[in-house]
Order: sequence, then structure tokens, then C-alpha cells
Amino acid sequence: MEPKEILKFCLGKGLLLDEETLNLFSEVNDFDSVKLVIEKIKIYTQEKIITKNIFNENKEQANQLFFSLPKENQKRLERLKVKLGLSIEISKQSKDITIPVHSDTGEPPVQKEHEPPNFKEIKKTQKEDSENLRIVSIGPAVGKGPEVKDFVNHFRNRFSDMRNILQEHSELKNLVSINKISENRQGISIIGMVYDKRITKNKNILLVVEDLTGKISVLVNQNKPEIYEKAKEISLDSVIGFSGSGSREIFFVNDIVFPDSVLFERKKSPIEEYALFIGDLHFGSQKFLEKNFLKFIDYLNGKVPDTPEVEKIKYLFIVGDLITGVGSYPNQERDLVVTDIEEQFVKVAELLGKIRKDIKIIISPGNHDGVRLMEPQPFLDEKYAWALYDLENVFITGNPSQINVAARKGFSGFDILTYHGFSFPYYANNVPELMKKKAMNSPEEIMKYLLKNRHLAPAHSSVQYFPLEKDALMIRKVPDIFVSGHTHKSGISYYNNILVVSVSCWEEMTPYQEKFGNKPDHCKVPALNLKTREVKILDFE
Ligand SMILES: [Fe+2]
Repeated sequence: MEPKEILKFCLGKGLLLDEETLNLFSEVNDFDSVKLVIEKIKIYTQEKIITKNIFNENKEQANQLFFSLPKENQKRLERLKVKLGLSIEISKQSKDITIPVHSDTGEPPVQKEHEPPNFKEIKKTQKEDSENLRIVSIGPAVGKGPEVKDFVNHFRNRFSDMRNILQEHSELKNLVSINKISENRQGISIIGMVYDKRITKNKNILLVVEDLTGKISVLVNQNKPEIYEKAKEISLDSVIGFSGSGSREIFFVNDIVFPDSVLFERKKSPIEEYALFIGDLHFGSQKFLEKNFLKFIDYLNGKVPDTPEVEKIKYLFIVGDLITGVGSYPNQERDLVVTDIEEQFVKVAELLGKIRKDIKIIISPGNHDGVRLMEPQPFLDEKYAWALYDLENVFITGNPSQINVAARKGFSGFDILTYHGFSFPYYANNVPELMKKKAMNSPEEIMKYLLKNRHLAPAHSSVQYFPLEKDALMIRKVPDIFVSGHTHKSGISYYNNILVVSVSCWEEMTPYQEKFGNKPDHCKVPALNLKTREVKILDFE
């Protein structure tokens, strides 16, 4: 194949190729396959200059990328994969791991055997990417269970990636590494991961922060109220920038800089289309609000008079807890009407199958959907959820996931970040400002906090995480829309031009929820007009 053709294609996509990679690509006798790889590597890594190194540094994503291609393309690219230093038999690395599963509210874990996702699932899900819907996020962890070195690498990489974001903040002048701070330096800045946080006898906040070169004590004086307020909100293990002065012993803070998420505009689609957001159906529970859900389906199918907008609905996001699962909390069987997980999926697929086929349904898992709790969570298990995989308009992703919809010529589409919300209770119970606001009842406040931290679970203990080399819970790309569930509370807000959506549930309150003082919202469906950006809350209660 002519290298010129490949270069031309790359230039058209705003990409550059180094000579080595260009030569490797030229050896593949199939331009279409090469084009697919180039397009996908752009999506998966967000890099603009493609070198052999990019494939090596992003091995996981690169392998997933190849597995996401149609089978015939994969075959033609086998030699290329070897030459790029990517394993061609990665599926052999998979081995079973035992995954802890526990309830929403921290009940003792119930041990449950779980098979890691296999590439069949990933292929099946991603083959369905269509022109105006792209699953951008990295597929979840596949392969070996975590080892100590994986945790170390995970945190080193998280730190480095967060530091790259913080370095862009102009407030952080004269950045130095912690071990380079000499005697009494003024006007310097450091970036560190928060290792410890406490209040001193004099009511100052004393942090210990750490970078790749060392640890240092960082003091925030209570006489600087504005900075003190910021310091109160700092989460353990988050990566934060500090400016101030000090010595190797102690650093006095003049300002605190969070990584933060900012968009400069609220994008508008040239075409009038709607995206709808729901979650927490808890199908299988005796309390599932089936009649209400059927009303919603009738609406989607145009059976409700005077709803002309309905035909413009193109996307329906379901952000986890589609089913209520089995064994999700103690004595759950008493609350179930369908007691088998496979049957729950079959029956909920029957319901979703009634929805007209030009609506794309994007489903990501939550803590009730029978997959491991460790995040990132894998795709729904095909062994149980096959009935959903069989629906032509259903797209299954992991949790969290990033999806791009509504892109067309001249419009880059909307980046939508979905995260079920398992980490939310931790922040509602540990961050003073969120505690004051009783944020489990206004989850959009928690979501804003996480956007500010550029991480879906900055504190280690807020979720169980699977230590991938690239931290999948970090918010790498600022989304246009951030959607979550889990709290069962409906909420809509904007944060620095990012639309923040928390979805209500489709399950009447169970005695178990009542015990924890939840005040759920029911059957509210936010509908976003992608052209005008107007959000309407449809009510099926
Ligand atoms: Fe949940």
C-alpha cells in the first residue's frame, strides 16, 4: 500500500505519523483495516502524533482496539500487531478472580465467583458502534488479577496524569518537586497526592502530601478563611496543587488549586434530536414500577397524543442497576419477584425490546447488575445478559464509560460520561460541604465535587478499584454531559458549562432503603434537546 495514501488519510484526520509506524502500516495490504486502526487509536488515546511508542505505552487500549475491529480486519492485522509489540494471544492471560460484592450501604461483602469479561463480549458490544454513536472509553480490565506492583503503577500513573492537568493552571507558579525544596523558598508551588489530613490543636489543617520524589507537611492556617474553606474540602488521595512558601520541613499554603473541569461552551447540535437519561430500574424487585415504565415505553413509541417531539428521541441512556440482581443485600430474596438473574435480564430485555428500534439504548452496569463491584466494572455478563446483547439497538458499555453521540459532518458530537455512582455515599459522608448539604439527596453536588477533582473516586476507600495502568476512574476528558444514578434522586445542574444529570429510580421504596433514610424520586426522565440544550423533565410517576 502506498505510504502517501496513509499520510493523506492521517492529515485529513488531523494526525501525524512517524516514519517507523508509517512503514509498518504500509506493509499491511488492506487500506480499510489501517484506516480503522488509525481512527480508533485517535479515539482511544487522544494522541495527535502516532508513533510505535504510543502503542507500547497504551498496550491495554491498543489491544482492546484491535479486538474491537471486525474479525476479518483482525486477521489481516495480525502481523502488524506483532510488529507493534502487541501480544496476539492476550486472551490466554485471563484467569479467574474472586470478586467481593456488597450492598449499596456497606454491608459485609458476600463473596461471589465471577468470570472476568472475555473479548467476545467486547467485540460483540463494540461492533455495533454506528456513525453517530461511539463508545470512547477503554474497555474494562481484562487479564490477571491485581498484584502489588499493579497498585504501585496505578498510583504513580494517576499522579503523573493528574499532575499534567494541574501543570496547565497558571496559578501554580514556579513548580518544584518536593525533594527540591531548599531552605525557605518563597513563591513556589508543589503538586502532590494527599496522604494524610488532620486538624491541629490550633485548628489549622495539616496535610501530608506526596509526589514521586518525597513527602512534605503542608499547613493551611485557619486565619486565611478562603483557603481554609478550600482545604476542608480536600479528599484523601486526591491530587492537588499548592502555592506558598516553606522549607523541606513544612510548606505554608497561600492558595489551593484543584485540577477542575471547565468547558468554555455549551455545544449545540445542528440537528434537533433528544437524549434521555434513566437508571436504577431494579427490574426483578417486587417494587419495580412496571406500569409506569410501560407508560414511558408507550410515550417513546408515539402512543401518547400531542407529543410531536417523540420521534426526535434518538438516545436513551440507562446508567446502571437495570436489574435488581440477587444477593445484593441481606435477605434480598424476600423483595424479589424474579429470583433468577438470567430471568431478570430476559424479562427486562423483553420490556426494552418493545422500544422502537431507531432509539439507541446505551446500558452501563451498576452494583446490582451481577458484575464485579471493583471499578471499572466490566460489561454485563453475556452468560446472563445475552437477551440484551441480542437486541439490535442496545449498546453495552462498562462503568464508567464515555460515549460520543450525535456527531456528524462539521459537528464533533457530545461527550457523555456515565458513572453509576457507587462512590457517592463516601463523599456525602466525608466532605464537610457535602455533609452540610445532605448531598445524597442532591447528588448533583457530589458530581460537581468529583468534576472539580477530575476523578470519580479520588479517595482510595470510596470504591473498590481494579488497578489498571491507566486509572479508568480519572476524568481525562472533560465531558459535555455527566450522568449518574445510584442515589435514586433526580437532579439537574450545570458546572462550568458541563451538564450534570442524576437520574431517579423505577422502584418504590423497599424496607431496606427506608431503614437508611433514603428519599427516592420516581419515574422522572430528563430529556435533553441537543439543538436548543433545553432540558425537560418528563414525569411518569
Ligand atoms: Fe446502585
